[in-house]
This record gives sequence, C-alpha cells and structure tokens, in this order.
Amino acid sequence: MNNNNNSNDYVHWSSRWTFIMAATGSAVGLGNIWKFPYITGEYGGGAFVLVYLACILLIGVPVMIAEVLLGRAGRTDPIDSMLILAKESNRSPLWAIIGVFGVCAGLMILMFYSVVAGWALDYVIQSGMGRFIGADASTISDNFTQLTSNNNRQLISHSAFILLTGGVVAAGVTTGIGNGVRILMPLLLALLLVLVGYSMAAGDFFAGLHFMFDTDFDKLCPKPVDGTAASLFTCDAVLVAMGHAFFTLSLGMGAILAYGSYMPKNANIGKTVLTVAALDTLIALLAGLAIFPLVFAYGLEPGSGPGLLFVTLPIAFSQMPAGLLMGSLFFMLIVVAALSSSISLIEPGVAWLEKKGIKRIWGTTGLVGISWIGGCMSIRSADVFNFLDNTTAKFMLPLGGLFIAIFVGWFMSQSRIIEELEIQSPRIYQGWLWTLRIISPLGIIAVFANSLEWF
Ligand code: PHE
Repeated sequence: MNNNNNSNDYVHWSSRWTFIMAATGSAVGLGNIWKFPYITGEYGGGAFVLVYLACILLIGVPVMIAEVLLGRAGRTDPIDSMLILAKESNRSPLWAIIGVFGVCAGLMILMFYSVVAGWALDYVIQSGMGRFIGADASTISDNFTQLTSNNNRQLISHSAFILLTGGVVAAGVTTGIGNGVRILMPLLLALLLVLVGYSMAAGDFFAGLHFMFDTDFDKLCPKPVDGTAASLFTCDAVLVAMGHAFFTLSLGMGAILAYGSYMPKNANIGKTVLTVAALDTLIALLAGLAIFPLVFAYGLEPGSGPGLLFVTLPIAFSQMPAGLLMGSLFFMLIVVAALSSSISLIEPGVAWLEKKGIKRIWGTTGLVGISWIGGCMSIRSADVFNFLDNTTAKFMLPLGGLFIAIFVGWFMSQSRIIEELEIQSPRIYQGWLWTLRIISPLGIIAVFANSLEWF
C-alpha cells in the first residue's frame, strides 16, 4: 500500500494484486478450513454444498461487488463512507447504521474466532512436539476434547492470538498484510494440495467425494416426523449455508468495504471480486476434500462438529512421512490465514476511531480489549460461543448484506455506480444490477422467512 499524496489524498494499495491478496487474506480463514468442512458434515454433505455454492454465486458475489464499490466510492472507513455516499445520493444519514452494525459484528466474530485460532496455535506446538506421531485415532480425538475442556490452556492461546491481531492492526495494516499474504497464501494452497493428495492415496477418496457432491436433499432437511413434506426452506441448513456464504467472503460487516476503500481507481472491481470469490471457494472445497476421505477411512463421524479439522488432519499427520514438519507447518499456516482474517474484523472499527482523532494504537487496544473479554467468555461457556457464532453468521452478516444490496441497488446514484464499476458490457452490468436489486435481497429474505418459519 502506498501513502499517496495525490489530489484525492487517500491511502491505497499499490496494485490490484495487493487488493486481491488482502481481500483473499480476509476471506480465506477459519471459515474455509475449519468451519466449512464441519458444517458440511453436520448438514449431511452434497446438498448443503450445492446450496452454499448457489448462495456464493447469487448473493455473495453481487453483494461483494456492491461492498467493494461502496468502499472505493466512499474512500474511508465503513461508517463515514456510508455517510458520505448517502449524502451524495440525497439519502438519509441513517444508512450509516450499516457501518455501525458492521463494526459490532466484527467484534462479536473476533470473540469466538480468536478462540478457534488459539486452538490452531496450540496445535502448532503439539504437532511440533511430535504429539501426534504414531498416535491412534481415538487418542487424537481425546486430545481435542482435553484441549477444549482446559480453560487455562485455551486462555493462553486465545490471548496470544488476539495480541498478534492487535499488533498487526496497531502497526497499520499497510505493510504487513499485503506482503505477508502474497507469500503465505500460495504456501497454504500448496500444502492443502499435498493433503488432498495424501487423502486420495490413504483415505477413502470416493466416499469423501460422494459425500461432498451427492445432492440428497433429504439429508439436508430431514423429513419432519409428523409425516408432512419436508421443504428445502423449512430447515436450518439453508440459513446456515447462506450465513456461511457471507462469513466466508467476509461480507456484510464492512471489512471488504474498508479494504475496497484502499483499492486503486484503475482496478476493475468485477474481475477482482470474481478472483477473490473463486479462490475462497476453491480453498474451502480443497479443505473438504482433504478431510472427508480420512473421515470415512478411519470410521469417524462426518457430523462430529467443531472438532472435525482438529481430529482428522492430525490423524493424517500421525502417519504420513515428515508428519511432524507437515503438521506444524500446516497449523502455522492456519494461524496465518486466521490472522489475515482477524485483522479485517477490527480494521473497520479502528479506521473509524482513527478518523475521529483517536490514535490507532489506542483504538486497537480498546477494540482488542473488548474482543479479548468476549473471547474469555466464549472459552468459559459453549453457549456464549454458539450464540456469537450463530447471531453473527446467520443474522447480522446477511442483514448487513441485505441493506448493502438495497442501498446500492435502489438508493445510490446510478451514475456514480457506473463510474466506479467501469463495466464495458451493458448486458453484464444490467445482469449484476438486477441480481443485486431483486435476486439477492429476495434470496436473503426468503431464507430468513422460511427458516424462521414466518409462513
Ligand atoms: N472470512 C473469514 C473466514 O472465512 C472470516 C471473516 C468474516 C473475516 C467476516 C472478516 C469478516 O475465516
């Protein structure tokens, strides 16, 4: 990122690629490697994956384009960007609530995210000490249960991770992130490919493949016991899939808006967003392909919940050549992927406080402090952990996304949108605009309505 004192006087990433890397850094994280496989397992596999992919394409991508656009047009933190753009389009300043809501959602996500990232940090050490080498599946599975029932151990790793996050944000997202992710993300992808290769060779690859891609909707939404027909929508799974599409693309809470505000003017938003969404989806699917074949080969439960990643992959590392090195490296990369996401969870809030004249270091300390306390609470109580996870992913992010779609689709000045997007083909532009105006909001509302059984 450059500190460019040109006529607009804004800070921006040095190139489109740096933006892609930073946005991918935000998008690719625990959501892809930890959460996606375990919720896919819990909701029965293929049909869930299909609904998730549909949500990415029909809701995620159009909303992501809108969110980047808001950032680049507003050129500042999410709250002030919304204020500026609402004013510019002669709309109520109340639209800035989207930004406020996003800052809160970011903090709430960090309150459980940092606990899970802490588990990965703990696993770096455990793998490094050779704990998994030669251990059998049940010992490895017990090991995870022990970790999650040991509050002090979790407290240490959660605190360490949140300090790391605060350190990077306080130093300024500028240098660290752009350069860091450029090297580490490809490395993560390469290791993931090695693990998929191992899974193909040592696991039950076809069982994994079937599980992930056979679309059996009965598994997604089990038939009600009273014999009434199951509907695609009267089950929680669709809401979870949609929520996850927002979570995994870091949408609906201002992270992508904040990063978009640093994007150079000459970069094409549409192409850039497609690249980020494709990389994010690829990494999630690869994580699934690394995990499920091992699940079936070792007779584990695909729906075993949040521990899935922390049990299956150590089993692979316990048996593969150079498992000690591979294991530590892999969990280290997960920590890095989580870090490049967690910084984007507090960056919108810190950027806003900075604009209000509060020094970056103090803004960061305050927000990190709040998230640390929340994290301690989610360590102590699984209910708090689940509440934070459910409320943010299932409701706050989709709601944020809904209002972003409505604002850009219906209320923002069209000429401003066209100026920012620079889409050459009018057909593609109209296609995006109408998806954003109609399909994405209706999709979100329909999923809300049916999952919450409003009808
Ligand atoms: N997208 C991140 C992940 O998948 C999580 C995240 C959500 C980050 C929202 C920023 C904003 O891990």
